[in-house]
Amino acid sequence: MRLQAKTALIAGAASGVGGQLMGIGGAVARLFAAEGAQVIIADIKDDVGEQTVSELRDFGADAMYIHLDVTDEEQWQQAVTATTEQFGKLDILVDAAGTSFRSKVEDQSLELWDLEMDIHARGAFLGTKHAIPEMRKVGGGSIVIVSSIYGMVGSMSTSYPTAKGAMRNFTKAAAIQYAGENIRVNSVHPGFVMTPLTESIFTEPGIINPRLALVPMGRLGTTEEIAKGILFLASDEASFVTGAELVIDGGYTAQ
Ligand SMILES: NC(=O)c1ccc[n+]([C@@H]2O[C@H](COP(=O)([O-])OP(=O)(O)OC[C@H]3O[C@@H](n4cnc5c(N)ncnc54)[C@H](O)[C@@H]3O)[C@@H](O)[C@H]2O)c1
Repeated sequence: MRLQAKTALIAGAASGVGGQLMGIGGAVARLFAAEGAQVIIADIKDDVGEQTVSELRDFGADAMYIHLDVTDEEQWQQAVTATTEQFGKLDILVDAAGTSFRSKVEDQSLELWDLEMDIHARGAFLGTKHAIPEMRKVGGGSIVIVSSIYGMVGSMSTSYPTAKGAMRNFTKAAAIQYAGENIRVNSVHPGFVMTPLTESIFTEPGIINPRLALVPMGRLGTTEEIAKGILFLASDEASFVTGAELVIDGGYTAQ
């Protein structure tokens, strides 16, 4: 019970219902609940989000769903307020919401550029902004921002690595600004993982095989492997860890 009595708001956590393919946020929600946390699932997929909560409750977890478009400041305020009204406090925020558009620079539309920057960079900023005042009230907290290996190195996409890189350095700015208040902010950098977001491309041999050839461990990661890293950063075991980047990628960025 590494998160006993902790309240965790997880954005992008609607997935894995009825044995369907699990996303990173969905795996985090299940692992956090198993470790004793009160869990708030936030997403734009309301049906799947409600079903995710229903599954968690069936296993005895204290959970609730809230609709949240991470690009919308008012909805972040409502999500944080709903959390504190229901559970009295907010200890942990995980931002695992995301999209992925693939375009080279000349083919990238401005519309998708803005959308991708908004979901990742603006979403991480707004969530952090509205979580901090509640974490201050309880003497500290932990914010975990899900970036990517493509927040550290380039890719053949354009807006995705740019937005993920922004999340990486936003994390460090927020970390040093709030370290003195015991509010820790860290980023996680997953490598290739099969999820609802990546299924359509990672089942294409022409796409996945060249990528796997670049992974020293020679396989995809699992959502559980990513969730365990996020659990460490969210928990008090990481009490002296802030501004860090936890890479979970089978060695991809080590070479
Ligand atoms: N799967 C991978 O290989 C991989 C690798 C590195 C990083 N990531 C990152 O991990 C995070 C989770 O992705 P995943 O692969 O688990 O896919 P996923 O589809 O399970 O998770 C993304 C979730 O974000 C939600 N979402 C999308 N737009 C939103 C918005 N505007 N507001 C709120 N929620 C929104 C989706 O509904 C979905 O539930 C993403 O940030 C992704 O970029 C994934």
